[in-house]
Amino acid sequence: MSLQDRPIEELPLSTPYPKTAGPLRIQDNTLRDGHQSLFATRMRTSDMIPAAEQLDGVGFWALEIWGGATFDAMHRFLGEDPWERPRILKRYLKKTPCAMLLRGQNLVGYRHYADDVVNAFVDKACEAGIDVFRVFDALNDFRNLETALARIRANGKHCQGTICYSLTGRRLGGDVFTLDYYLARARELEAMGVDSLCIKDMAGIMSPYDARDLIILLKRHLRLPLHLHTHETSGMGTMTYLKAVEAGLDGLDTCLGPFAGRTSMPAAEPLVAALQGTPRDTGLDLARLIRVSLELEKLFPRYQSYLVPRRLSLIDSGVLAHQIPGGMISNLVDQLRDMRALDRLNEVCEEIPVTRRELGNPPLVTPISQIVAVQAVMNVLFGKYRMVSNQLKDLVYGLYGRTPTPVDPELRKKILKRYKRGAIPMTGRPADDLEPELAAAAERIGNLARSEEDVLTYTLYPVTGEQFLREKYKAG
Ligand code: CO
Repeated sequence: MSLQDRPIEELPLSTPYPKTAGPLRIQDNTLRDGHQSLFATRMRTSDMIPAAEQLDGVGFWALEIWGGATFDAMHRFLGEDPWERPRILKRYLKKTPCAMLLRGQNLVGYRHYADDVVNAFVDKACEAGIDVFRVFDALNDFRNLETALARIRANGKHCQGTICYSLTGRRLGGDVFTLDYYLARARELEAMGVDSLCIKDMAGIMSPYDARDLIILLKRHLRLPLHLHTHETSGMGTMTYLKAVEAGLDGLDTCLGPFAGRTSMPAAEPLVAALQGTPRDTGLDLARLIRVSLELEKLFPRYQSYLVPRRLSLIDSGVLAHQIPGGMISNLVDQLRDMRALDRLNEVCEEIPVTRRELGNPPLVTPISQIVAVQAVMNVLFGKYRMVSNQLKDLVYGLYGRTPTPVDPELRKKILKRYKRGAIPMTGRPADDLEPELAAAAERIGNLARSEEDVLTYTLYPVTGEQFLREKYKAG
């Protein structure tokens, strides 16, 4: 028998497919991370409707349509009620589950909210049509997921526990972000009863062979379905996905061609084509995918002016060098320009990993990435920790949760000097210190809020949320 005719398992190559792995699940992220990464989250719901109708027939595992940046941009810039998007899209997504990205106790905002807000938010999100919740915490402190996970489960929806992917050096290993670190976090989530697990590589720094090792290890020790989310930013995304799939990954996120690549996710079409006829065949209809892609392509001119970064290069090789995500660099440039110190950019880039290490190695994801970046700038311009932001004091105090490694006690004392909550950090679950806040918020906003969703919008975004509600009801 020729090699061509033999089943792939019998080929005399190192067989890349674990015997237990079935078809690869694909979650489409075009309508959330796609336009968030490429077009500053500005896509309008009305533009999503034709695509949603067509995407529903493709056979995706889920369609992610909602998250923190979506909620923020919709009410702040688009004048659209964030709660309407899942409700409207749900009319067209009859077969495919709707997914959202939830920042644990931070919900879709930037601080910790009290448990009553978390419970109400999850209930309303379920009511609006969310079926799959991918829940993460910026510090991987899963006490910050407890309330949300319990409420999602009580609503009978899918809880996907998430680990933010971070590195100590160029590759997996070193003294913090090791294979053991990720296995320990994954076991914690498994013990919390999540339905599936996601590794979220928001900066696109996971390299292909690290993905292979990590997935093999996690699949060996856990029974949970395992998903991976990465970005094409560094140029490694598609390679990383392929190695993870070969290692037995159950599901991954992609965007359709016109919303893929650059700082967005790898594209669906080449992955679907590459896996055709293999044991990991996605079963998705490539011809249909290409038709939807062509449809989406027509929207491109409408959003082209938001395309960031406005550069020719498709990859951000800076991410390979210093691992600072592209979005963080552009914020730094703005910040330094305002301070007339743009010539110090290189020093700041070198300072970021140092500051991050001193602050307990937090993963660089919203809102922690901004806190670290601001501090690195102040360290360079004014001397080490001579000036510190209030948010940094909150972080060191424990208000965001536990950092992966402890902050040096001397440095902690210096940062918490004259801090309003005191110099002794809290050790409990941050939300245990928060009083219920919905009733008071409802009273403050009064008649301007006409539904529980309105009260939530205002609670999450007191300033821009109130402005939005004024606009909404003036028109209505
Ligand atoms: Co992402």
